[in-house]
Amino acid sequence: MTPRVLSGIQPTSDSFHIGNHLGALQNWVAMQETHDCVYFIADMHAITVEQDPAQLRQRTLSSYAQLLALGIDPNKSTLIVQSHIPEHAQLMWVMSSITGLGEANRMTQFKDKSAKGGTSSTSVGLLTYPILQAADILLYQANAVPVGEDQRQHLELTRDLAIRFNTRFGEAFTVPESFIVKGTAKIQDLQDPNAKMSKSSPSGCVNLLDPLKVTEKKIKSAVTDSDSVVAFDPVKKAGVSNLLTILSAYSDTAIEDLVSSFAGRMYGDLKKETAAAVLTFVEPYQAKVDSYLTDPAELERLMRTSAVRAREIAGKTLADVYDKLGFVKA
Ligand code: TYM
Repeated sequence: MTPRVLSGIQPTSDSFHIGNHLGALQNWVAMQETHDCVYFIADMHAITVEQDPAQLRQRTLSSYAQLLALGIDPNKSTLIVQSHIPEHAQLMWVMSSITGLGEANRMTQFKDKSAKGGTSSTSVGLLTYPILQAADILLYQANAVPVGEDQRQHLELTRDLAIRFNTRFGEAFTVPESFIVKGTAKIQDLQDPNAKMSKSSPSGCVNLLDPLKVTEKKIKSAVTDSDSVVAFDPVKKAGVSNLLTILSAYSDTAIEDLVSSFAGRMYGDLKKETAAAVLTFVEPYQAKVDSYLTDPAELERLMRTSAVRAREIAGKTLADVYDKLGFVKA
């Protein structure tokens, strides 16, 4: 049987950034050739922090258009919106009942986000977020989950919960493997190369839908170091290494070849070439996104078609889980 992959992305920004793209989304596209793929927009995860409803709706449509523009083909893959499939929330409830409070409290993303927001603005949803993520994955019996490095701990929890359920109640779930590609699994912030790129730091984050001039400026203002040799050393030369990683991905050239081509040249050249390579990718991408967004009714039609297929798979898993738990058949 063709192995299945599943992955999701939150619609919490007007645009995906190059960290999302290189860390996860480019693998989503590639895996369509070898796997049965289920991909989704995690709108239910998005509401664990405050969202403006009109903006969430627009960002969900735009995220869908962006995934199509990147090359996710709804004829090959199942491309859904999480809230269209009620089984995600239903399975999440079951999984939350076998998750320890301490286990949930230990998740580093929860610790970081709740520390920033303080107890009064931290929702219970933020604490149970990784349990919903486990339900997303386990519902579809996914074998592999392509994500960036920051999701590793959530995948470990998913595996633990799958094994726990299977052991207590009988085999209901495939235990998934993470699929984290070395090299691009963590794209760093251009202004703070020791932090991961994320929308919370706008000047260090290159959005795929940013105006071209803005992208060029952000890359040209990237923080490097006081040395002047272009070399790859993510610990001692985090900024330069991050630029090399980005240039390597967008120019499809090995890092060692890039390093030799920059021998005796300045950081300015590295920034210029990196900006040019990113813009070459981004320009046609933006045109495609715009064209998909001219027809929101068609986007909604594609979402609904995929949802039918997704519910077939999800419904089967949930029915089996309910049966194993001892719920009387409805
Ligand atoms: P999200 O929306 O934060 O990010 C989507 C994907 O982008 C990756 N990513 C990065 N990769 C490399 N460098 C970076 N700087 C960078 N920033 C983000 C993330 O690792 C992710 O793969 N919890 C998930 C969404 C989710 C999910 C799931 C994923 C919900 N359910 C089930 C997989 C399976 C998240 O917040 O991703």
